[in-house]
Amino acid sequence: MEDFHSMLLKRHSIRRYTDEVIDTEDVRLIIEAALLAPSSKSSRPWQFVAVDDRGVLDRMAECKPAGAVPLKKAPLAIVVCADSSLSDVWVEDASVAASYMQLQAEALGLGSCWIQIRGRYGADGMPAEEYLQELLGIPETINILCVVTFGHKDEERRPVDPDKLLWEKVHVGKWNPVNE
Ligand SMILES: Cc1cc2nc3c(=O)[nH]c(=O)nc-3n(C[C@H](O)[C@H](O)[C@H](O)COP(=O)(O)O)c2cc1C
Repeated sequence: MEDFHSMLLKRHSIRRYTDEVIDTEDVRLIIEAALLAPSSKSSRPWQFVAVDDRGVLDRMAECKPAGAVPLKKAPLAIVVCADSSLSDVWVEDASVAASYMQLQAEALGLGSCWIQIRGRYGADGMPAEEYLQELLGIPETINILCVVTFGHKDEERRPVDPDKLLWEKVHVGKWNPVNE
């Protein structure tokens, strides 16, 4: 396996996928990565809904007018939810879990894309969260952060050029206004 940093340079959001299904063992590893994610006070408030039914994925793509297109191609999507009554930082906890899944997918050579749900609305003004709760039978008490799509890559993305990283955003010792 390539080293972790090289993988980070190569990782990109992938929004187009081939028709190939994801190996069951790879799906298990992706979900296991989420369950291994750290959470505040180890409260592990997350819940995950894995969907691979084409018809349901197509309906999920209608949750918001823009930015949900990867769902129309992906063979797998995982809805990242959390019980917000269990943690005041459920957004952070769920975000870490979603990122862990994306990195695990990349390590397996698979592509993924984060589809934002929290704070997003459908064309009719319905919260994308509510739309997915109804569609997937997710209780109202369970909040939805995002959906992560997964699949075999059907697009080429250039690795990041390390010389183009925004080092001016990094302040050493104290805030440096020259960086602004
Ligand atoms: C919080 C968050 C929300 C995002 N929402 C969406 C989304 O709704 N639809 C989408 O296609 N990509 C979404 N993305 C992916 C970003 O557009 C992508 O990460 C960014 O353009 C950088 O590209 P890269 O992932 O290839 O480095 C989201 C990413 C994050 C972290």
